[in-house]
Amino acid sequence: MIDPFGRPISYLRVSVTDRCDLRCVYCMTEDMTFLPKKDLLSLEELDRVCGAFVSLGVRKLRITGGEPLVRRDVLSLFESLARHLKSGALEELTLTTNGTQLEKYAESLRAAGVRRVNVSLDSLDPERFRAITRWGNHAQVMAGVKAAKAAGLKVKINCVAMRGVNEEEIDDLVAWCGHEGFDLVLIETMPMGDIDGDRTSQYLPLSLVRARLARRWTLDPIPDVTGGPARYTRCAETGGRVGFITPMTHNFCESCNRVRLTCTGTLYMCLGQEDAADLRAPLRASEGDELLLAAIREAIGRKPKGHDFVIDRRHNRPAIGRTMSVTGG
Ligand code: 5AD
Ligand code: SF4
Repeated sequence: MIDPFGRPISYLRVSVTDRCDLRCVYCMTEDMTFLPKKDLLSLEELDRVCGAFVSLGVRKLRITGGEPLVRRDVLSLFESLARHLKSGALEELTLTTNGTQLEKYAESLRAAGVRRVNVSLDSLDPERFRAITRWGNHAQVMAGVKAAKAAGLKVKINCVAMRGVNEEEIDDLVAWCGHEGFDLVLIETMPMGDIDGDRTSQYLPLSLVRARLARRWTLDPIPDVTGGPARYTRCAETGGRVGFITPMTHNFCESCNRVRLTCTGTLYMCLGQEDAADLRAPLRASEGDELLLAAIREAIGRKPKGHDFVIDRRHNRPAIGRTMSVTGG
């Protein structure tokens, strides 16, 4: 699949639930309302859509949420999708998780063919972790991360950098990840969805974070190897990789290779645009995949050139109405 701007689309991110057992302050309100369960695609339907994308050339699948590991029986989806790894059609099957259920699932995920996990972790301090996630138990997530490492999964830590919240701790995260052998990716807050707090005051430009890190660490830029939007550096002192995702200060759209499917079967061609295609109707309209494949091709044909995130300071309104937990990051 090649989009109108000549970008090959080889990466599908699939949100399997909008639900989450945490309530990160930059992501959701505390009393977030979730979709009725009847609106969700079944695991069998998710499997079918993924299969259609693989047949069209998707080489990498990432399962996200919400929190993907809170969906009941989600492991069966991984186990089923593993057939595309075995056939060689798929290069990678992976997931993004908040880590709360990883202790339970790490071994089985590895057995299903998962080799890497992205774990969202914004603080190493239990109290601050609780403040950021509202409900999170830091020890539980640390146990999850440990289990992932023990199971032989490569771990990447995603950390949202927030002004006045965890900015003083980023140094420690670099040290800890370096020590554990984890990649660290720092993310700027993106203006997506309604939250309770003030987003402009949370926003911390990573240019500033990077300049501060440079006082203690030598961060040498390295060519991108992941195909994602992160700009990577190698930390000379720890040997670990430190990446920066800067949607607000740097436009990473030129090399975008991905699209995102929500748990209700809506395909978003861009994280930062509202345009979407419904795949649920064609999926359910027939047992064969012709309609579904046609709908996917048509959608890729209108993938936009890029996003225009901007925090609307005057109205303090998100640029994109849906939260990250809807489209899965
Ligand atoms: N801005 C930036 N990152 C976000 N995430 C969730 N919501 C936002 C937001 N508004 C992060 C999560 C996770 C990743 C998938 O996206 O912390 O690490
Ligand atoms: Fe859950 Fe991730 Fe949103 Fe936090 S950022 S509330 S872990 S979906």
